[in-house]
Amino acid sequence: MNAAELLARCPVVPVVVLDDVAQAVPLGRALLAGGIDVVEVTLRTAAGLDGIRALSALPGLVVGAGSVLLPDQVDRVVAAGARFVVSPGVSRAVLARAAEHGVPALPGVATATDLMAATELGLTDVKFFPAGLLGGPDAIRALAAPFGGVSFLPSGGVSPETMADYLALPEVPAVSGSWMAAPALLRDARWDAVTERSATAIATARG
Ligand code: 3PG
Repeated sequence: MNAAELLARCPVVPVVVLDDVAQAVPLGRALLAGGIDVVEVTLRTAAGLDGIRALSALPGLVVGAGSVLLPDQVDRVVAAGARFVVSPGVSRAVLARAAEHGVPALPGVATATDLMAATELGLTDVKFFPAGLLGGPDAIRALAAPFGGVSFLPSGGVSPETMADYLALPEVPAVSGSWMAAPALLRDARWDAVTERSATAIATARG
């Protein structure tokens, strides 16, 4: 699966910060029950890597790693089962290592200079981060204009209320955000709420 196929697979990608690896499998089942089959698990917590390993065992779920900053982390997440890599910015070293492993990588862009760096490397799919602070859908529309054929995954400040405005742009095949798997829901094992938020997000995306 390349990056474009990944973004076409699921219009809403939950960003997950795991406090405890025991949350991983019930979370994955709750997301799948709500119709979400792509998930990004960040390396922001110690449980992230084991969480990727645990979630990767769930049939039908495509698990990626987020907050990937260094090439060594690419080796570790791929060994744990990650099938894609997301970074907050553009790192040539991270992108090269992901390419060596044959996994798609979505670098974060915030400026036209970032986009030029990404397109120079042959990429056509990027994360737009932090989307809300950068100006939301209007910022993507303006930034995308000179870069024909680039697709954006907005992340950071995307909400159930704003997601449809992003998805209305032809350059935005999918959005991502943490609300479907908010840390408080995971801590309190509110798996029904994860499923409900996921199903609502999928319905909004399709609506
Ligand atoms: C990300 O890593 O893309 C963001 O932390 C997700 O942002 P959100 O918590 O505002 O949804």
